[in-house]
Formats: sequence, C-alpha cells, structure tokens
Amino acid sequence: GLPERVTIYEVGPRDGLQNEATSVPTAVKAEFVRRLLAAGLPVVEATSFVHPKWVPQLADAAELMTGLIAELGDRARELPVLVPNERGLDRALDLGLRHVAVFASATETFAQKNLNRTLDSQFEMFEPTMARALEAGLDVRGYVSMCFGDPWEGAVPVEQVVRAGTRLLDLGAKQLSLGDTIGVATAGHVKQLVAAFSDAGVGVDRLALHFHDTYGQALANVHAGLQAGVTTYDASAGGLGGCPYAKSATGNLATEDLVWFLTGLGIEHGVDLAGVVGTSHWMAGHLGRPSPSAVVRALATT
Ligand code: HMG
Ligand code: MG
Repeated sequence: GLPERVTIYEVGPRDGLQNEATSVPTAVKAEFVRRLLAAGLPVVEATSFVHPKWVPQLADAAELMTGLIAELGDRARELPVLVPNERGLDRALDLGLRHVAVFASATETFAQKNLNRTLDSQFEMFEPTMARALEAGLDVRGYVSMCFGDPWEGAVPVEQVVRAGTRLLDLGAKQLSLGDTIGVATAGHVKQLVAAFSDAGVGVDRLALHFHDTYGQALANVHAGLQAGVTTYDASAGGLGGCPYAKSATGNLATEDLVWFLTGLGIEHGVDLAGVVGTSHWMAGHLGRPSPSAVVRALATT
C-alpha cells in the first residue's frame, strides 16, 4: 500500500523565488516564510547562500535569516538553506543555522552552468563543505539536479544519477533529493530511478523527490514515488519556481496541488490547505500575476 504519512518539504521561498526577475522585498520574503510555517508546513527552505551575482534575488539571505531569527529564534535556525561551497557554509554558520543543503548536478553541462565546475570537481567543492558542516553538527541534505533529463544533454542514464547521488551520501548527506529540474520525468521513469537506488543499497527512507511541473506530470510522478515508498516530497507554494541556470525550467509542483492530492488519498501531511492557498494568493499580489496552480485558482477567494 501507500505510505500513511508524508513530509512536504516546502521550497517556495528558495526555489520559488530564486528565478523571479523583480526583486521581492526582504520583509515580504520573511512574511512568506512565516505564513508557510503558520500553515503547518513542517520544513520551509528559506533561501540560498550562493554568490549574490549568480542569484541576485537571494542576495539578502543573511538579512532575511537575521530578521527571522530575531523573531522566531531557534525555529528560524532550523530552516534549511542552500550552500554550494565553504563560503556559503561560513555565511550560514555565522548565523547559527542548523540545516544546509548542497546541490550537485547529475550532468556535466549543468554542473558547469549552475556551479561553474565540472561534474567531478563539484564534489571537490562539496567535500570540505560537508565535512565542516557535519563537524559542526549540522544536517546536510544533498540535491541532485537533472535526474530525469537535461536540456543540453537530453536523456540522463539512471546509473549516472545513482553515481552522483551515492557520492553525496558517501560524503555524509542525510537525505538525497532527486530533482527533475526541467519537469520531464514520467511515472515510469520515477519507478526506475527509485529502483536503481534500491539496487545500489540506498533505501527509500533516504530519498526525497523534487518535481517541477513543466509537462504537467508532477502529481503522477508523486504517485509513482508513493507506490515505491518514498515519503518526502518537495513542493513550492503556488507552483512558483524554476532555476535561473536551467533552460526551460518552470514552476515546481505546487504545494496546494500536492496537499489536495495527498488528502484525497487519505495520506497525512499536517498542512492546512486554506492557509497555503491564502499565502499563495497574497504572494501572487506581490508578484503581479496569478498562481499557475489549478488548485490555488479554484480555491482562492478575492
Ligand atoms: P564561482 O564564480 O566559481 O566562485 O561560482 P569562486 O569559488 O570562484 O569564487 C569567486 C568569488 O565569489 C569569490 O570572491 C568568493 O568569495 C565569492 P572574491 O574572492 O573574488 O571576492 N563567493 C561567494 N560569495 C558569497 N556566497 C558564496 C560564494 N561563493 C563564492 N556562496 C558558485 C561558484 C558555486 C559560488 C556559483 O556558481 C553559484 O553561486 N552558483 C549558484 C547557482 C544557484 O544558486 N542555482 C540555483 C540553485 S540549484 C536548483 O535550483 C536546483 C534544485 O532546485 C533541484 C532541482 O530542481 O533539480 C536544488
Ligand atoms: Mg528545483
């Protein structure tokens, strides 16, 4: 049967906003995070400590986290943030943050475009970053991008994804989030990839699935993940999102779509749907356009 309970890993403030062209005020980002927590989302990835020139929208990461810590204390220190390298980790450690995520590419081209590194040398950047994070007692999540296809390289063999993923686990990642960066995954492919990890000795308890909804397959892909036993799913409130360094990446799976779907299956998630819808509707006002999520559009009242 399907799992009884699922963890929704909210990435709206990070993946959702990182691609927005118009700069969102830090106070609005803080309110976004607060509202998502209030809606019962158990994990909210708040921002990225990446190079501010690479992702200008998140250049205020330290300011945002400082404000949230002042307000929420340790609750804010538990919010995960992305750190690509030691410089990013230092910035997170300075604030006493407890959960970081590194992000690897399964392909050569995207490693170069997103991290300015080769497929191999990205791990040389993660190795000391993760070693120091673990030594400081932090939790490290490892993302792998382009797990189901790459806009420049096309098909990505499952063995290549498993190789990248197991390298992150060997470096000490607690959880691996398998990213369909450009939204080309299908349910059959999800089943194959999760099985390939199992064959390599990586159980479903260590995996999370991260879908973008470019081809409208994200929920079908979640269903394939549930059937395989995966219990953590990344999603973004309102379906915001995309990666600035991935051609044709569009919005993430909308948190509201995921909540509606899980509720329909009787799977516990602990999230208040109306609270997330209200938040996305409010955010859409700030961004100046409606949410792409069908569930938000169906439920939002003006
Ligand atoms: P680089 O230019 O090779 O960096 O960029 P470098 O190591 O050569 O350093 C150059 C300068 O940048 C130095 O300063 C560093 O201190 C500074 P200088 O000495 O010249 O004055 N620097 C930094 N400053 C602040 N924070 C930092 C930092 N690092 C270096 N962390 C780098 C390499 C990795 C930094 C760059 O490529 C980068 O920031 N990339 C991030 C791209 C990104 O954020 N992409 C989106 C997230 S991934 C994603 O969305 C996919 C995901 O959602 C899953 C999925 O959907 O598949 C996770
Ligand atoms: Mg993503």
